[in-house]
Amino acid sequence: MLVFGTRPEAIKMAPLYYALKNCPDEFETLVCVTAQHRQMLDQVLQVFGITPDIDLNLMKAGQDLFDVTASVLTGMRDVLKEYKPAALLVHGDTTTTLASAMAGFYGGVPVGHVEAGLRTHDLHAPFPEELNRQVASKVTRWHFAPTAFSKQNLLNERVPEAHIEVTGNTVIDALLWVLDRIDTDEERKAALTQFLGARLPFDWQNRRFILITGHRRENFGNGFLQICEGLKELAYRYPAMHFVYPVHLNPNVQEPVNRLLAGLPNIHLVEPLDYEPFVFLLKHAHIVLTDSGGIQEEAPSLGKPVLVMRDVTERPEAVQAGTVRLVGADRDRIVSNVAELLDNPDSYKSMARAHNPYGDGKACERIINVLRNI
Ligand code: UD1
Ligand code: UDP
Repeated sequence: MLVFGTRPEAIKMAPLYYALKNCPDEFETLVCVTAQHRQMLDQVLQVFGITPDIDLNLMKAGQDLFDVTASVLTGMRDVLKEYKPAALLVHGDTTTTLASAMAGFYGGVPVGHVEAGLRTHDLHAPFPEELNRQVASKVTRWHFAPTAFSKQNLLNERVPEAHIEVTGNTVIDALLWVLDRIDTDEERKAALTQFLGARLPFDWQNRRFILITGHRRENFGNGFLQICEGLKELAYRYPAMHFVYPVHLNPNVQEPVNRLLAGLPNIHLVEPLDYEPFVFLLKHAHIVLTDSGGIQEEAPSLGKPVLVMRDVTERPEAVQAGTVRLVGADRDRIVSNVAELLDNPDSYKSMARAHNPYGDGKACERIINVLRNI
């Protein structure tokens, strides 16, 4: 049984779902969604054509960590009792991940953790995701680590080596699948172009633009004020540059972003995009400014310089390679780092290199090979 609840988990579990479904003689595969996200989860389910077998439908507007943790835990208790899966696969670092993994542990169902072993070692950054990952690791039987670095983190915590498999990140499987679908289907490409054209009032295929996303809890409040002030300053300094910002549905993000940035002529606030148009847009972007985990993994493989609006990251591989830079949720650092990339072609060139530290598109195959032998 795969369980997931939010947009990034769904994107990263979708290829694994298909890989398992393609082996019907070996696995009976069930999908349980908690729907910690509702609309943003459904967007992904639709793109990948997944109909969940079980839907806990638990999102409430303005939910807090207590709400989600409690309802996933009790919801999964009942699901596990009813379906008795041989293994429960959880993903990453959300509250769905934490509470589902705990439910597996309490219910005696062995847990496989996809995207295991990422660490900042700071329980407050990202909050609460670092705690979620550490707790999930404690109750996991099969650790699917995306990189050698994440495997080493687990070894440092005395996880037995035999319980860890380095697989690559399934996000690269998802990304390559979507890119291939776009590249091999002219009609699909035309529909995506039209879809984006209807939302962006500039020639986004031929003009340079900066793609922005942000949603981290530790940035709520002052962090988002700094981010918005930085964007405002950049939009003023570079009037010919466009800034495209699909705004996360969390009310703590919607409020400051709409209050501070709506109506500026070269800042384009749009609804969260379906995965396919988002990837298409990412492919055309000049620079990416984000605090997202998944985008830190996808953008390097498309050769896009990424400025990460956080002080620490659990994904250091691309930072070490020089294509991702941490700039904090700090107005001045955001402005100076974007300005450097826009004004200095050598700086830009040194960050705009395609590389794939996070995977080769075969992560699901490797995960399945482990599950075959359990
Ligand atoms: C969650 C995860 C975070 C992950 C992020 C991905 C936790 C604690 N946080 O953060 O790790 O990186 O998702 O995007 O697990 N909302 C909607 N519709 C949606 C989604 C959200 O209206 O489709 C609004 C609701 O008001 C909801 C609120 O956003 O109550 C917060 O959602 P929640 O999942 O609790 O937190 P995120 O900030 O989305
Ligand atoms: N994404 C998307 N539409 C958007 C913004 C992001 O499909 O409008 C995708 C993005 O490509 C990545 C994932 O959502 O795969 C990242 O999700 P998010 O930033 O919400 O969560 P995180 O990765 O930080 O946990």
